[in-house]
Amino acid sequence: MKSLFYSFSIVSFILVLTHISFLQEQTLNDQDNVSEILERLGDAPVSHKVDTLASEVASAEKGRELVLYGITTDVFNQKTKKQSKHFVCTSCHNIEREDPDLRYSDPQARLEYAVQKDLPFLQGTTLYGAVNRTSFYNDDYVKKYGSLVDKAKDNLREAIQLCAVECSQGRKLETWELESVLAYLWTLQLKMEDLQLSEEDKQSIENALNGRANKDEMISLIKSKYLQASPATFVNPPEDRKIGYPDIEGSVENGALVYEKSCLHCHEEERYSFFQLDNSKFSFKHLEKHIPQYTRYSLYQVGRYGTSPINGKKAYMPNYTLEKMSHQQMEDLRLFIETMAE
Ligand code: HEC
Ligand code: HEC
Repeated sequence: MKSLFYSFSIVSFILVLTHISFLQEQTLNDQDNVSEILERLGDAPVSHKVDTLASEVASAEKGRELVLYGITTDVFNQKTKKQSKHFVCTSCHNIEREDPDLRYSDPQARLEYAVQKDLPFLQGTTLYGAVNRTSFYNDDYVKKYGSLVDKAKDNLREAIQLCAVECSQGRKLETWELESVLAYLWTLQLKMEDLQLSEEDKQSIENALNGRANKDEMISLIKSKYLQASPATFVNPPEDRKIGYPDIEGSVENGALVYEKSCLHCHEEERYSFFQLDNSKFSFKHLEKHIPQYTRYSLYQVGRYGTSPINGKKAYMPNYTLEKMSHQQMEDLRLFIETMAE
């Protein structure tokens, strides 16, 4: 009996010991949130955490409904007014990861990844990891939205509101709706596994978490593995639309992917546009005829300039920056359309 008691005590003693050392030793796991690891390393918290005080009724589920359907229910269980008559957020943004390597914004790598993951290929940057970014409407977007970008540049709340009104051509979100969208976006934050760290890097970060390596260096290391801002370069259509980009040889197969993953996402069955496109000869002939013209029916023009919004009244097409469609992909699309129109 006595020996049983002793062995029991020894076992519990060992259990307590391992538990204590477990508490002391911080581990790093694939499913850990990048933002939390950064904070544990001493990085300053971001300003767009959900403000639960400002809005007790905010919820990630309501945010999800707003992003996917543009509508949700309020505290009285009443349906809200539709956020936009024309679009939902996912008309132009994915909610999944869309880049195979988060350090680069490479349109061809993204297109291939989109095909593999069955995602559309769109003008807006994915909302996956949006809360991990610190700067919005970067680079050339100031040309499109002017001083509206000032407020949104380093403020995710303002960036969402700008998009709700300008990109989505709808109404501003109410405070609780905005906090709900934020809460939903936090469910789409980057995980450590998204960074594809080497075992060595993981070990160094774990060491830093336990005070055995420089924390600031590890913060920089982590931030070097993903873009904190989505780059945006505006380009003009080619000078001569008949010739296009003569130095680039198009690929019909790749053009088919652009058409399928991008154009048809909005234009098939008039999903987000009254301009209907499909895989019929009629669609291809129409597009082909207008390629060299200086109108919005030319894919060079509509691709690089988009169409202009008529506030609230009519859907418009957002332009593709160079990061969202390369010149090569534009020529691929052209060749595909010309081939299909034959
Ligand atoms: C008609 C297309 C369209 C719709 C609809 C739309 N957006 Fe956007 N959004 C864009 C484009 C284009 C940008 C430009 C910057 C980028 O995403 O790269 C953008 C930018 C953003 C940004 C800043 C991203 C960054 O990293 O610069 C956020 C956040 C955002 N949108 C959220 C939303 C939300 C939330 C909704 C729904 C309420 C929405 N958007 C609806 C096209 C759209
Ligand atoms: C995010 C959604 C979206 C995507 C992606 C998209 N478009 Fe559009 N596009 C629109 C909207 C909205 C209009 C405005 C026309 C309307 O509905 O009144 C438009 C207009 C056009 C027009 C001019 C037609 C007109 O009536 O003004 C052409 C041509 C066109 N798109 C071709 C394309 C091609 C080619 C692609 C692929 C490279 C593409 N679009 C991708 C939404 C989109």
